Amino acid sequence: MTRLALAGLALLMLAGCGGATGGSGGANVAAGPPGKRLFVENGCGGCHQLAAAGGGGSFGPDLDMLRPSAARVEASLRTGPGAMPSYAGRISDADMIVLAQYVQTVAGS
Ligand code: HEC
Repeated sequence: MTRLALAGLALLMLAGCGGATGGSGGANVAAGPPGKRLFVENGCGGCHQLAAAGGGGSFGPDLDMLRPSAARVEASLRTGPGAMPSYAGRISDADMIVLAQYVQTVAGS
């Protein structure tokens, strides 16, 4: 419960900052938004298509097609649906939110 409340709070704070991410995003990960770095570092692109982050995997659903909400991404990270590994305890709550927001923002772009 506390974790959820915290996550919600952080989400609100993120929403407040608004507009800094998104857009085209070059190939340079170091210069890209933190969510992109998280996506690459955690190997999401090995299983998922996400053009903005250079992900070309086809084991999991194509995130550009799925265009999941941040909440849906975060839920997948915590639970690890189906053949996807759970990232609970591997990615901090704060990073999960950043990553989830990033995927929601760039998917399908
Ligand atoms: C080992 C391969 C693999 C890795 C690595 C992986 N995923 Fe997945 N992912 C999957 C598979 C397979 C599914 C489909 C699960 C199912 O619904 O059966 C999935 C599903 C999803 C979904 C959709 C869930 C839904 O609600 O339908 C999202 C969003 C997602 N992954 C995001 C991520 C992110 C972000 C990362 C990186 C932290 C990641 N995945 C890493 C394999 C992977």
